[in-house]
Amino acid sequence: MHSWKSVARVLTDRSYRCDLLERRALVSGSSVGRSLLPPLSQNLTDSWSAAKAAGGLRLAAMLDARRLYDVLHHSNEQSSSIRLLHQAFGRIVGSISQFGWVTTEDLDRLVHRANITALSVTLDLCCGCGGPTLYVTWATGSRMIGVDQSWSGVGYATEKALALNVDHGASFLCADVVTLPFAPGAFTVVISIDALVHVQQRRRLLDECIRILKPGGCIAFYDEIAGDGSGGGGASEALLLDALSVFSPHYLFPKEATICDLEAAGFTDIEVVDCTASFEHVNRAWLAAFAEVWDLLVDEHGHDRCEAERGYLEAIGELARNRRLGRAFFYGRKQ
Ligand SMILES: C[S@@+](CC[C@H](N)C(=O)[O-])C[C@H]1O[C@@H](n2cnc3c(N)ncnc32)[C@H](O)[C@@H]1O
Repeated sequence: MHSWKSVARVLTDRSYRCDLLERRALVSGSSVGRSLLPPLSQNLTDSWSAAKAAGGLRLAAMLDARRLYDVLHHSNEQSSSIRLLHQAFGRIVGSISQFGWVTTEDLDRLVHRANITALSVTLDLCCGCGGPTLYVTWATGSRMIGVDQSWSGVGYATEKALALNVDHGASFLCADVVTLPFAPGAFTVVISIDALVHVQQRRRLLDECIRILKPGGCIAFYDEIAGDGSGGGGASEALLLDALSVFSPHYLFPKEATICDLEAAGFTDIEVVDCTASFEHVNRAWLAAFAEVWDLLVDEHGHDRCEAERGYLEAIGELARNRRLGRAFFYGRKQ
């Protein structure tokens, strides 16, 4: 069994890691913590203003994915109306603070299928602001590392781990998931929630997952998938991608393509469960939460930004209804 210290040792580049000392400094605001995080606020304001100047629904497309999520996670950290939005969403679907469509029931299913226990060492790819990572830590006692390219997401997740008193078990670092700074065989489980759709080099990422998993380890993730359009109506493929890329780049594949990639990387025992119906349901919950706190959101963040995010959710809902976009759970094992 891995001790937490041995996991920490396998991190090949300590400068990427928010360890306990650095995390405490981050919260108390001392220079050790601050040196880890680039100054965000001015850059964020600049990129958002530049994007806004372009006008309309396309404003978020002006930001690259990393900047976009920095803006969102930073807002999550700072903004009282976004906190209320997340609380409203949590009340409606009984879920956690996050930027995806997962519910605690989905996470419980994932934990069960991947057999995550207190003996596991689990990596959460694209952990965002850490909601799913912290839930799994809390529910199982597994040691967890969450990785995301967004500094503000990692900073927020780190603070929440301290606040929830699970910082001994959950740690977060800022990195691109395509080049993971971990030694071979460091993890027993890799998970990811509603995020791999944003990663262009999917095959390379799955090769990395095989490398860092122990033999017998497994990968379990929820992801958006291209649907078959069986619901009829709706957008052409081009319009579909256009609607989604308003928010951030999406690299959408049908589930068969992801199965091929998992097989090519060397995973076996592959299982796929279509979750498009719950995706639609949870998307409606996000829209209901937006409606509940709409005036407060607009007061704090401005009409254009709120409309852009609501437009994105409405596009998702429409595409899911027409079965042009879906969501699936994927599972695979390393021999
Ligand atoms: C929809 S959010 C999901 C976050 C989280 N898993 C959750 O459910 O709350 C997608 C996340 O993927 C991250 N991301 C996208 N591409 C990435 C990459 N190449 N490396 C690391 N993180 C990435 C973004 O920064 C963002 O936080």
